Amino acid sequence: MIVKFQQFSMSDLGFFLFLVPPILAVLFIHNLFKRKQKFPNLPPGDMCWPFFGETIGYLRPYSATTIGDFMQDHISRYGKVYKSNLFGEPTIVSADAGLNRYILQNEGRLFECSYPRSIGGILGKWSMLVQVGQMHSNMRMISLNFLSNARLRNQLLSEVEKHTLLVLGSWKEDSVVCAQDEAKKLTFNFMAEHIMSLQPGKPETEQLKKEYITFMKGVVSAPLNFPGTAYRKALQSRSIILGFIERIMEERLKELNGDENDLLGWVLKNSNLSKEQILDLLLSLLFAGHETSSVAIALSIYFLENCPAAVQQLREEHLKISRAKKQSGETELNWDDYKKMEFTQCVISETLRLGNVVRFLHRKAVKDVRYKGYDIPCGWKVLPVISAVHLDPSLFGRPHQFDPWRWQNKQGSSSGNGRSTGTSSTSNNFMPFGGGPRLCAGSELAKLEMAIFIHYLVLNFNWQLAAPDQAFAYPYVDFPNGLPIIIQHRQINHDDTRPNS
Ligand code: HEM
Repeated sequence: MIVKFQQFSMSDLGFFLFLVPPILAVLFIHNLFKRKQKFPNLPPGDMCWPFFGETIGYLRPYSATTIGDFMQDHISRYGKVYKSNLFGEPTIVSADAGLNRYILQNEGRLFECSYPRSIGGILGKWSMLVQVGQMHSNMRMISLNFLSNARLRNQLLSEVEKHTLLVLGSWKEDSVVCAQDEAKKLTFNFMAEHIMSLQPGKPETEQLKKEYITFMKGVVSAPLNFPGTAYRKALQSRSIILGFIERIMEERLKELNGDENDLLGWVLKNSNLSKEQILDLLLSLLFAGHETSSVAIALSIYFLENCPAAVQQLREEHLKISRAKKQSGETELNWDDYKKMEFTQCVISETLRLGNVVRFLHRKAVKDVRYKGYDIPCGWKVLPVISAVHLDPSLFGRPHQFDPWRWQNKQGSSSGNGRSTGTSSTSNNFMPFGGGPRLCAGSELAKLEMAIFIHYLVLNFNWQLAAPDQAFAYPYVDFPNGLPIIIQHRQINHDDTRPNS
């Protein structure tokens, strides 16, 4: 064997390398042929080359209020369901509202959550995003318990209010603030306190925030584990963050009466998860609850800046609430106030529809599936693209327009003049939080955070973009310039019953 190896010359190696591409091509064509025989009704589409396939085109950044050229082009060529080769796997891409619902509702039966392995590497193998089956159900129960309506009402609302006031209270007259960072500060501080009682501004919280920023850059980067890459740095930050949480956990375990008010305390007392599982659960909740809501808040600032009529109507709604509170001598918002924020809910829905914080989900077929005449082979990746449904002109009239009034009829359609009509499309097609057994566990919290933030923003500030900026999909949504806004304080005039300008 050794002798043979020594006899293997450079020219043999060259010949071998020369043969690799044709061999791969033959295998690829053979596979395609076999697949065609077994699944004659695969959706149309281009599988392109093995490995990369069309991934680079699919992930090319585009304006977040559109579906991007790749998607547009593929839908025009192949229709709303097409096949492709993405993330190294044969894939069915769906921009079809019905198929998306079908995929999400059949989680665990026909389809299964299937995020790229790199996500598991960085969020942890016990992260809720990658877990399936019983362990996912257990972790989901814990999260839902901790984000229950009772807790939202009795505890989280006032915590969200406290953190909102802390951030907005630091905004100086005529200054420029980076709205995206401010939104991140708010949701990070809130989650860090809620998860493990970390107080905003304390050195340990700030240090964790710093590590977390590095960690986040890696979650959204290419999974290249080489020295100097964002992914490698994120893996290092992950260890530091986990070490930090572990220390807090050990201190808690030493105390007889640990704090049960935060998630860590609750999990330690009420679950039988291992230390490693708890660490991954906490980290994935920090990720799920911080990144998404902060983008949603930044998007609402961005869309409202360009829609004075909506700001005006919000001011009327929130001034009414604020005036009633003043008359009853109360200062803090409560659940009844929140329930009065009806137009605000329309603004929130419209922000999530047009901004699409989460644009598509990762699934795989666990059985051969037939849907409306299409074959979806077992083992194939399936991507329900939520954003393509939200921006589908046949479901949402004038889909690229920020039109919160379309939600006033609860159906989400639009007349084309910016006001709702109450026709055709239903809120069934609106899935910013996913759906089925993996529906976002924090959807109600996210809406609460947005509503409380909007309440104090519109009552206390006027704001304009300080420099041009735009939401981009990378595919995670981000403002390249951080959304710089210039702000002026407003006086709240509780005695004036006229609508506020
Ligand atoms: C506007 C803000 C938010 C958006 C758009 C959003 C969106 C989503 C989506 C689409 C999913 C489904 C993922 C999938 O099916 O693969 C999801 C899952 C999840 N989200 Fe959110 N989310 C938001 C805020 C939050 C917040 C504040 C929390 C609080 C911690 C949270 C916690 C979770 C958890 C734990 C899951 C996993 C649920 C499961 O697998 O059972 N999210 N989110």
